[in-house]
Amino acid sequence: MFDGLRLPVIAAPMFLISGPDLVIAACKAGVIGAFPTPNARSIDQLDDWMTRIRAAVGDAPWCANLVTHSSNARLPQDLEMVAKHKPPVVVSALGSPAPAIAVVQGYGGKVLADVTSITLAKKALQAGADGLACICAGAGGHTGALSPFAFLRAVREFFDGPVVLGGGISDGWGVAGAIAAGADAVYMGTSFIAAQESMAPPAYKDMVAAAGVDDLLVSPAITGTAASWLIPSLLANGLDPRNMPDAPGRAYDSGQSFKGKRWADVWSAGQGVGAVQGVEPVAQIVARLARDYTAARARFAPAMQA
Ligand SMILES: Cc1cc2nc3c(=O)[nH]c(=O)nc-3n(C[C@H](O)[C@H](O)[C@H](O)COP(=O)(O)O)c2cc1C
Repeated sequence: MFDGLRLPVIAAPMFLISGPDLVIAACKAGVIGAFPTPNARSIDQLDDWMTRIRAAVGDAPWCANLVTHSSNARLPQDLEMVAKHKPPVVVSALGSPAPAIAVVQGYGGKVLADVTSITLAKKALQAGADGLACICAGAGGHTGALSPFAFLRAVREFFDGPVVLGGGISDGWGVAGAIAAGADAVYMGTSFIAAQESMAPPAYKDMVAAAGVDDLLVSPAITGTAASWLIPSLLANGLDPRNMPDAPGRAYDSGQSFKGKRWADVWSAGQGVGAVQGVEPVAQIVARLARDYTAARARFAPAMQA
């Protein structure tokens, strides 16, 4: 699944942020580009986006992210588009991978299940997932709580297939660390929010570039599930980070909550946010990741000879 890449990285899918421009730029830079299907506001738009991506990336692997939670009424239609355009990788999130398995494996694609615990990892594999995206503490969006080292080692006790590790990994040093620890690839979202090709509004990109790891709050108050929020955007929406409202029922779309819209008005980032210094093209971000990845790998060579 990760053969032939310049770097074992998936530019992770992000709601309202990842679209065809980001996916195509990521694939051309030598990593896997991904987008959540709900970012296309209609099935016709999803059809257009997937047509564009396929034409632009050729044989390079790209990835569609399906929200398999029961709240996603469009899932059957999204799956039809997946069957039509055959993304080589599909990641299921916020629900079981089961609805995607037959369709994706039917055309030779691979299904990764986004999971935050050992229980969910085992369930996803029992449902037939080909691999796991293990989301750990420090992730942007809906975050996990486990240490990446602990999560990875626990998963390797029962699974030797593809594992992608995500959460706060924002440079080539972290990518090398994840691979050395036993992952097959790294899932990186926050690092691409401020990319030139991302659909994030300019003020969001500027906030990410200015923020550091202390500017984050993990709270279930916005969507009903723990997610990592930029404190300046909470304040800008009249929310008090020291006194957040009670968590609502689960609501993952961009509908109304508090006085603003989830994701559209209140912005998320993960603990890698400090590594983002400004708006840059994806090609430049990936080139820096590749340079630091090579430098990090070189650190092992003398140690091996000792
Ligand atoms: C703003 C934002 C939106 C996200 N939206 C989604 C999404 O729609 N679907 C999904 O599976 N993951 C989503 N994620 C999570 C990412 O796919 C990935 O797990 C996470 O960004 C990895 O951690 P990192 O941000 O520390 O690199 C989102 C993350 C961010 C920062």
